[in-house]
Amino acid sequence: MPPFSARSVMEPAVGPRLFRRSHGCGQLDERDAEAGREVVLTGWVHRRRDLGGLVFVDLRDATGLVQLVFDPSESPAAHAAAAELRLESVVGARGVVRPREAPNPAHPTGRIEVRGLELVVHNPAGSVPFPVDEAVEANEETRLRYRYVDLRRPKLQRALRLRHRLASASRLLLDRMGFVELETPILTRSTPEGARDYLVPSRVHRGRFYALPQSPQLFKQLLMIAGFERYYQFARCFRDEDLRADRQPEFTQIDLEMSFALPESIYEVVEALLCAMLREVGVEASAPFPRIAYEEAMDRYGSDKPDTRFGLELRDGGLLEPGTGFALFDEALARGGTVRGIAVPGGGTASRATLDLWSGWGREAGARSVVWIRLDGSGRASSSALKALGEERCRALAGAVGAGPGDAALLVPGDRGEVNRALGILRLRVAGHARLIPEGRFQCLWVEGFPLFQRDEREGRWVACHHPFTAPRWEEVDRLETDPGSVRAQAYDLVLNGSEIGGGSIRIHRRDLQERVFRVLSLSREEAEAKFGFLLRALDSGAPPHGGIALGFDRICATLAGSESIRDVIAFPKTTSAACLMTDAPALVEEGQLEELGLTLRERPGD
Ligand code: AMO
Repeated sequence: MPPFSARSVMEPAVGPRLFRRSHGCGQLDERDAEAGREVVLTGWVHRRRDLGGLVFVDLRDATGLVQLVFDPSESPAAHAAAAELRLESVVGARGVVRPREAPNPAHPTGRIEVRGLELVVHNPAGSVPFPVDEAVEANEETRLRYRYVDLRRPKLQRALRLRHRLASASRLLLDRMGFVELETPILTRSTPEGARDYLVPSRVHRGRFYALPQSPQLFKQLLMIAGFERYYQFARCFRDEDLRADRQPEFTQIDLEMSFALPESIYEVVEALLCAMLREVGVEASAPFPRIAYEEAMDRYGSDKPDTRFGLELRDGGLLEPGTGFALFDEALARGGTVRGIAVPGGGTASRATLDLWSGWGREAGARSVVWIRLDGSGRASSSALKALGEERCRALAGAVGAGPGDAALLVPGDRGEVNRALGILRLRVAGHARLIPEGRFQCLWVEGFPLFQRDEREGRWVACHHPFTAPRWEEVDRLETDPGSVRAQAYDLVLNGSEIGGGSIRIHRRDLQERVFRVLSLSREEAEAKFGFLLRALDSGAPPHGGIALGFDRICATLAGSESIRDVIAFPKTTSAACLMTDAPALVEEGQLEELGLTLRERPGD
């Protein structure tokens, strides 16, 4: 709540009357009514009703809403002006606070009203594209086009104010812990974080391009080499990648780096940071956060970012040999595959249609087939494969994946990795649909022990799972060249309620090791020198061991605000096709601008 003091009403010597307020709309209460306080309010016309000769206006400002009443017998001029008010016009009003005749205790200022004595319209609103009302469902495109109107809605106001509080709390804490906030360049060269770059052509150096940073990764490492030891930044990052509800082309990281750090040192800082942020939404979390190995996360949850607020863990169906009578199970087992599944608590009362729907979701998620088994209260089984498997085996299979009487089981045959991935997606959808995800719970989890490299089969080479500057586990360095696939990274992800809210690693701090990793990644000496020569030289000039992490600040804000999409916590977000509907960016540019940059377009838009 902004700190408006209840100062005396002072009008500016010049300029319109009723320009400066004495109080915020949402700050008035019964004490003001008892005192019959005269106030000046400013704000937006939220609602207007004409009733029995009186005009009621709900006035809105950043502090809330209050009801103004204009009575023709008290102030004919103000009443006449109020009767003409259009929604969202900006006004100033002078009046006296009184108790309300018909109080509305559900509203914070519902016990009082302001009897209007004077009204000035500072700016009449023309047509507003949609009412500023939580209940009105304007379509997303219109909302984005008129974002400044949409942002007036309490939900978005709350979300963005929460974002501010989370940023302040984080800065305060990091300051206290001795971190220095430093800015790194926006016009820079490409840092590999796995997405495409946004490029900016240079006018001075024709034919050359800056890249907008996908992250400040290399600069923060250079700051460690420069001796800062603890750095952080609210860093804007730019990635040209496929967008989803949790991805924007430009987004914000709380980026940090520490010298002489072990993963535990990073965990400690980040846990304190998360606890401080959770405290802002009234949640007391306790550190240390649980940790899980990547392999175990994949096996138990079918995901490297498991939502551990609920069970439905993946389990083996206990089948080792073909011969179940169900062809798809037998085929998978004969090929050395497996049958795994999840138990859905209470799923025993799910209808056949629901179970078929869930099975369909499993196939959409990549399962070759999904068999459902339903156990009634006395443990009798029905199943989509009852005929082939028989009732007894159905009961045994359901039991093996953890289903008891009154529950359901969903089983998937196939290669273990493929089965885990499909069940991981299915687990989330079913838990949401069956309302098995507890609300208001925040579960943080570290995932560690990722592989350092993965094989890009199409290109026939190894690529870095996190980024090429991540250190291997020191005890596995010897296998870098001989068995790169088996080397694990000193990397960690932070997961909150199933959303990856951060990722980081201990870095390579020696030139020789960095060069070896570049070689495994099939980067020739010349390429390494051309792209990362500055880093290699820096590593050679006294680089301390260091590591860090970047937290996805938008994702954290969205989760804590209870929003489905990070768009709700970004003041001016882009659409899923990376466009800003309000400003029409990206836009065409003048021919002359292209000429100056030495660029010609191969295709003109619209050709
Ligand atoms: P990474 O690429 O894992 O690591 O990014 C860190 C976190 O940033 C968030 N994030 C995004 N949020 C919104 N929109 C996007 N397009 C987007 N992409 C990523 C995620 C993610 O966990 N330099 C490393 C960090 C390090 O090693 O210190 C990096 O950027 O929450």
